[in-house]
Amino acid sequence: MTLPPDVPMKPEPPEVLQAISRHFREYFDLAEKKRRWSIREDIPWGQCNRSLNPAVADVVETFCAVELYLPDYSAKILPKVRHSKSRSWFYANWGYEESKHSLALGDWLLQSGHRSEEYMADLEAKVFAREWNLPQDHHLGMLVYAMVQEEATFVNYRNLRDRVKALGGDPALEKMLQLMSIDEKAHHSFFRDCLRIYMEFDRPAVVEQMRRVMNEFQMPAIHDLLDDSPRRVAAVRSLELFDADVYFREIYRPLLIELGVTRAEMRSPPGERKSLRVA
Ligand SMILES: [Fe+2]
Ligand SMILES: [Fe+2]
Repeated sequence: MTLPPDVPMKPEPPEVLQAISRHFREYFDLAEKKRRWSIREDIPWGQCNRSLNPAVADVVETFCAVELYLPDYSAKILPKVRHSKSRSWFYANWGYEESKHSLALGDWLLQSGHRSEEYMADLEAKVFAREWNLPQDHHLGMLVYAMVQEEATFVNYRNLRDRVKALGGDPALEKMLQLMSIDEKAHHSFFRDCLRIYMEFDRPAVVEQMRRVMNEFQMPAIHDLLDDSPRRVAAVRSLELFDADVYFREIYRPLLIELGVTRAEMRSPPGERKSLRVA
C-alpha cells in the first residue's frame, strides 16, 4: 500500500522541539528508575496455571500476535518522526519495551502448556507473512492514534488480569499483565503529553487529527490472518475485555476532558460524515 503524502503542517518551532525534548528526558529517566523489569527474574514462571480457561490463552495469543508486528510499527513510524530527535529516541526505547511484551506473552503460552513450540513458530510465520501499515498519514495523526492505542492496550491488559483472577488465577500471567499494563499506561501518557505540547503550538491541527482518528478508532486487526478467527473473536468477546462502550467511557470521553476538547469540536464538518466505530 502506498501511503498518501503528509498533510502539511506549520514547521515546528524550536520551543516545541525543546519542550518535547524535556518531556522525553523526564519520561526516560523515570522509566530507567522505576519501570525496568526482567522477563526471567520478575515473573513467577513456576506458578503458571496449566488448567486456566482456554479462552484466556486465545486472548493472550491474539495480544502476542499484535505485539509481534513490532518490526512494521518501528520501521514505518520512524520516518514520520525523524524531524524530532526526542520522538525518534522515544521510539527506540518504546521498541525495546514492546519487544519484551511479545517475548513475555509468547513465553507464557509455552510455559503454561497452552501452546507448543511448533504452534508458536507457525503463528510467527503467519504474522510476519503480512505487513502492517500505518493507519494514519500525518505524524500528528499517528501521535493521536498511538495515544489511543496504548490506552486501549492498557485497558485490555488490566481487564484480562481481572478476568484471570476471577477464573481461578495464574500468578505468572497476572504479574506479567501488571508489568505490561504499567508500561502501556506510561506510553499512553507520553503521547498524550506530546499532544498537549503540539496543541499549544497549533491547536486546530491537533483537533483535526483527533477528530479523524478518535471517531474511527480500531485496534490493529489481526483476526483476518488467523485461520480460526470466528472462534478467537468469540473467545475475546466472551471475556468482555473491550468494546465500543468501554472505548467511549474509558478512553474517548476522558481524553477529551484531559485535553480540553469539546464534543462539538469533535463533530465532522458538514459533508464529511463520520461515526464512532470500534471493532
Ligand atoms: Fe505492548
Ligand atoms: Fe505500548
